[in-house]
Amino acid sequence: MAKEKNVYSCTECGGTSSKWLGKCPACGAWNTLIETVIASTLPNKNRFAALTKGAEITALGDIEATSMARTPTGLEELDRVLGGGMVEGGVVLIGGDPGIGKSTLLLQALDALQRSGQNTLYVTGEESGAQVALRARRLGLDNSQVKVLAEIQLEKILATLAAARPDIAVIDSIQTVYSEQLTSAPGSVAQVRECAAHLTRAAKASGVCIVLVGHVTKEGALAGPRVLEHMVDTVLYFEGDTHSSFRLVRAIKNRFGAVNEIGVFAMTERGLKGVSNPSAIFLSQHEEPVSGSCVMVTLEGTRPMLVEIQALVDSGGPSPRRLSVGLDKDRLAMLLAVLHRHAGVACMDQDVFVNAVGGVRISEPAADLAVMLAITSSLRGKPLPKGFIAFGEVGLAGEVRPAPRGQERLKEAAKLGFSSAVVPKANAPRKPIEGLTIHAVDRVEQALDVVRGLT
Ligand code: TYD
Ligand code: MG
Repeated sequence: MAKEKNVYSCTECGGTSSKWLGKCPACGAWNTLIETVIASTLPNKNRFAALTKGAEITALGDIEATSMARTPTGLEELDRVLGGGMVEGGVVLIGGDPGIGKSTLLLQALDALQRSGQNTLYVTGEESGAQVALRARRLGLDNSQVKVLAEIQLEKILATLAAARPDIAVIDSIQTVYSEQLTSAPGSVAQVRECAAHLTRAAKASGVCIVLVGHVTKEGALAGPRVLEHMVDTVLYFEGDTHSSFRLVRAIKNRFGAVNEIGVFAMTERGLKGVSNPSAIFLSQHEEPVSGSCVMVTLEGTRPMLVEIQALVDSGGPSPRRLSVGLDKDRLAMLLAVLHRHAGVACMDQDVFVNAVGGVRISEPAADLAVMLAITSSLRGKPLPKGFIAFGEVGLAGEVRPAPRGQERLKEAAKLGFSSAVVPKANAPRKPIEGLTIHAVDRVEQALDVVRGLT
């Protein structure tokens, strides 16, 4: 087949150019031209064919709403984030830093699926078949019947998918796949986008469930996978500190289930193991209470989880530092200002470090109260009482605002043996919770007074 020359189109204005240029000739934007397959190389040459005959339209109410058949992967924590399992024809993108455990997780999932009678295919572009086999041995997956294809050319992968007709296929990773149609290098935005589009189309047409692996950090540091998010049905991020053994799988987008669910895993010598009681991980074990530590209950999806917030306040130099790990840095600066203005606690000349224990990332404002209490505890060198928790959002006026689903948070804390809690007034339970003394507050000063009374 004689190959026609591709064009470069601008992602900003849609203008085209026959060669790559740094600057779009039409709109003048920089670095926006990416290679695109021109329409005439596609099978349907008549661009107006689709217009000659209108397609049938149907009222929404007349369409039969068939519920999606889900195939559980056999890994409970993964199923939780997927919303119950893999969906026929569904496309899942799983992103994460290199080395975090994406290949390990998917190999384990495929093996479990294969053992439950599904037909699986693992397409590896990064490792050879032998390397994959070595990992499978290490994982204790002896005699695994998962089919492996070491291939990076899109056209061959598509042909294999059509011939082997698997139920579930994993492409590890989308950055290594390239299409013959484009001259750009594998991993470039043009290639990643084009290949993902073809694979998605194949999934929808044949009903195979496809999992795309993408190397990307949550900040989208690497170009490529970010452009895939709108194409796929589900986006999962694999996160965690490579220094700790705990890994979180988080759903960012899910057309077939709830988002913000998380699955918790521990990386062991023999692969990833689900952790069903994650609260235990995120609390560090102190024999006696230490200053600068406050436990909060955060909600991860539908699951309340206890996390320890640590703060260290120490005299700083001329420009004191504010550093946060696992919590929003801007929010920390704001909370310090609120502490000063409304509670008279000044940290202007102090370095302030805060950390969410266990490599967890907390984005909800319900952490505010715990962060402030940890900071004041560290500043005063006074530990908070034993068995103490706090949560609640703090506003700029110093008011303490309720956190969603307060009851569930409190019940989880009581279940794990916590005995006193400082919570926003609106979160105070109507019926007492056994074993838990509740101190309801509606201002920051009040929260600090309560704590002073307890210590
Ligand atoms: P991997 O799945 O290759 O990561 P990714 O595909 O996201 O790049 O995981 C690699 C890391 O996991 C590697 O540093 C070794 C570690 N590991 C274990 O600790 N135990 C195991 O059983 C396996 C297979 C890997
Ligand atoms: Mg890998």
